[in-house]
Amino acid sequence: MALSDRSGIDRSLTAYGDPGFSRFIRRAFLASAGFDEDDLARPIIGIADTSSDYTTCHRQMPEVVAAVKRGVLEAGGAPLAFPTSSLPEILLSPTSMLYRNMLAMETEELIRAQPMDAVVLVGGCDKTVPAQLMAAVSADLPAISIVTGPMTAGHWRGERIGACTDCRRLWAEHRAGNLDDTEIDGIRDELCPTAGTCMVMGTASTMACLTEAMGLSLPGAASAPAPTGARLRLAAETGRCAVRLAEQQSRPSGVLSRASFLNALTVLVALGGSTNAVIHLLAIARRRGIPLDLADVGDIAGRTPLLVDCRPAGTGYLEDFDRAGGVPSLLVALGDLLDHDALTVTGETIGERITTADRPAGWQSSIRSLEEPLGPAGGLAVLRGSLAPDGALIKAAAASPELLVHRGPALVFDSLGEAEERLADPHLEATPAHVLVLRNAGPVAAGMPEAGSLPLPVGLARAGVRDMLRVSDARMSGTAYGTVVLHCAPEAAVGGPLGLVHDGDLIELDAAAGRLELHVDAAELSRRRAEWSPPPLPPRGWRRLYAQHVQQANLGCDLDFLGPEG
Ligand code: FES
Repeated sequence: MALSDRSGIDRSLTAYGDPGFSRFIRRAFLASAGFDEDDLARPIIGIADTSSDYTTCHRQMPEVVAAVKRGVLEAGGAPLAFPTSSLPEILLSPTSMLYRNMLAMETEELIRAQPMDAVVLVGGCDKTVPAQLMAAVSADLPAISIVTGPMTAGHWRGERIGACTDCRRLWAEHRAGNLDDTEIDGIRDELCPTAGTCMVMGTASTMACLTEAMGLSLPGAASAPAPTGARLRLAAETGRCAVRLAEQQSRPSGVLSRASFLNALTVLVALGGSTNAVIHLLAIARRRGIPLDLADVGDIAGRTPLLVDCRPAGTGYLEDFDRAGGVPSLLVALGDLLDHDALTVTGETIGERITTADRPAGWQSSIRSLEEPLGPAGGLAVLRGSLAPDGALIKAAAASPELLVHRGPALVFDSLGEAEERLADPHLEATPAHVLVLRNAGPVAAGMPEAGSLPLPVGLARAGVRDMLRVSDARMSGTAYGTVVLHCAPEAAVGGPLGLVHDGDLIELDAAAGRLELHVDAAELSRRRAEWSPPPLPPRGWRRLYAQHVQQANLGCDLDFLGPEG
């Protein structure tokens, strides 16, 4: 019998060349931790814990893990929590995206290498949830996700504020000279007032909602605020559910289908969710060999309106969405735009979850109907053209409508450092019609930081300009807004046309038509290409491995050896 074919505590035996000894010594060490034969005869439920002092949004995760353990015990299982890396969005340099695949690999290997019959994935901050899902679908052991839950909103001078759409908006006002140092300090202390993840529809909230829409968490699990008892009750029920999954050997491969991912894309657009989620969904689908590409994103975005009133595309916060019934209410509102036959970890179909969804009174104040949406279809647009042959994205729902069709001269920055320096120069020659181009910020060059929503030239910001067209091979925070073209593929560092743009070249965007063009003739582009050379690889370690193997944004930025074929 292969080591990994055993179950319970005898699964994944340490290779001493004597399985009997491996079982014996394993029990000896577990006895030292208080486990007896009765404990070890139960289904073993691993709990992947991403607590870290650095990940402040996970600070009440120990309570969530304790509640999961209680649920596991109540259902007759034996819980064993294990720490993994954590990815604090705000405290990682240069970007947490550089480490998503590292966490995915680590989690997958620990699920495989340690004895467990099912795993509960406890995540929250932006990259933790997609990394855990990538790991779970590759390991293909019974798995269920629970997130730490969103913060509740803060207040400043009578206004509700919260991380981090307001962080960016109010910092821009400070930068433009409209808020003084004392005011911005007062705001700072109200932006993150409780435990939990960012309480707007940023990447963390978006991925939590998409996980629920794909059926990999319990109904309502995405939005219950972190400080509430509801969050802990969901955690305990998640623990109980994990034991049932272990007993039934219900694996992600039996739950996830192409329909699951198309449903997730539909929910993403209706949420006005983070553009980062597109990269993550592509990566998760590719781990299972499920066909999904940017054409699917474009098709679904073209027929799905914005329904959820949550920042940055709307005005509310996650607590409002939760009070309106969260994802279950949204699934009801989306109705026939969803595939009702898609499965979930509880054994129900999405259609059955829709039928049993409990919609609170007044739910449509936060979740609109298809008949009266908050915004039209096309809130997310896939772009192609001479500047992005393999595709790019724009979150049209968070852009300035008058810039969605725009033609203007390029103002090019070769690196984020150069952009930071020149955009802070009040003498930079720029007009509101310029197109700010940032390159060498893609996955290979820089790990793809959330630098796409470049600050405006400070002189223009002080003159009252609040938006300009920006184009890059970087990403953008899900909490950000503005007319920002992202994920240009191929990126400049692998020879994409973005690397050939010169100051003054005309760039044209037509978001509704899905076009992004660089108006430079072919002969001139050939001449520039002959002079181009790639940047050097990082000298060592994870960054070198990453740069050598990471795929482009249109493929999900996974490492090329981690797909099903690898
Ligand atoms: Fe962790 Fe925003 S910083 S969710």
